[in-house]
Amino acid sequence: MNLAEPDLTSVAAERLPALLRQMPKAELHIHIEGSLEPEMIFALARRNGVQLPYASVEELRRAYAFTNLQSFLDIYYAGASVLLTEQDFYDMAQAYLQKAVQDNVAHAELFFDPQTHTARGVSMETVIGGLHRACTDAAGGLGIDASLILCFLRHLSEEEAFETLEQALPFRDKFIGVGLDSGEVGNPPEKFARVFARCRELGFHLVAHAGEEGPAAYIWTALDVLKVERIDHGVQAIQDAALMARLARDRIALTVCPLSNLKLCVFPDLASHNLRQLLDAGLAATVNSDDPAYFGGYLNDNFTQTFAAGRLHAGHAYRLARNSFEASFIDDAAKRRHIDRLDATFEAFR
Ligand code: ADE
Ligand code: ZN
Repeated sequence: MNLAEPDLTSVAAERLPALLRQMPKAELHIHIEGSLEPEMIFALARRNGVQLPYASVEELRRAYAFTNLQSFLDIYYAGASVLLTEQDFYDMAQAYLQKAVQDNVAHAELFFDPQTHTARGVSMETVIGGLHRACTDAAGGLGIDASLILCFLRHLSEEEAFETLEQALPFRDKFIGVGLDSGEVGNPPEKFARVFARCRELGFHLVAHAGEEGPAAYIWTALDVLKVERIDHGVQAIQDAALMARLARDRIALTVCPLSNLKLCVFPDLASHNLRQLLDAGLAATVNSDDPAYFGGYLNDNFTQTFAAGRLHAGHAYRLARNSFEASFIDDAAKRRHIDRLDATFEAFR
């Protein structure tokens, strides 16, 4: 891998938005159910005869005025209720992957929430089958490489997480890891210690949401009890100097989601976001979209709006894109190919 960073001092500020859009990147924090656009929610509701508590696309969009994580999750789970067939899951993932290609996303690791669907009688085979077929087709047709990470819902019990794992194991070749999401405060990582230990024995990659709304202490236990390889969000690490040092030392990536943090009121505005502080402290931060259909933007929107709010320059852009490949769960040869293309893009902008 090329360890030398390109000289970035000569990229003119007005060329930065084009560079942000064109640079190849990986997306490591996208809930595929959070890519369901209102128009697709209504189309699937019609196709499946599901009654929605909203009269129109516009009325649904007007409900997207969130005050915190839970106010979003209530609507997000309601939106996912239109997904019933294998084709629904395929169509949802394919629509996201098409958008990701336009944003020059070369590799994506997609979270999915099977418990949201199995609780409504949709089989694990339907969920994983549709999502995996979309990933396979995209690799051939769209030229984007994508894999799946199964998330346990942390507001449910560990026993239910174990049941979900059992249901998913017949399809274990179709997902690469497990994660932890949903309402954070009051549901610390250690609640899932045993199921994560089992997933580790089984050879899955491990990630967890921690330090989004919850305290820095949850990041410590995600690392030390669950033994995760990446932290999803993690912006509350800034509250704890020892934790910042640990994350920097061990190169534990944070999958930061600026527009999500803005829409869920974690930060009052993008200018107050701590992404630059995290990067400048040597943390392996990355930029991601989380739930793009709900938070007003896909990956390039997250990059361009965060950089437009100031305080970040081309050197940060390079770091973020490079971190995204280095923190991904692809092999070293694939990482090298992506980083070589990244370097060539920056070279062309000098
Ligand atoms: N599920 C979907 N988006 C989420 C987020 N931002 N935090 C926790 N759980 C989620
Ligand atoms: Zn998330």
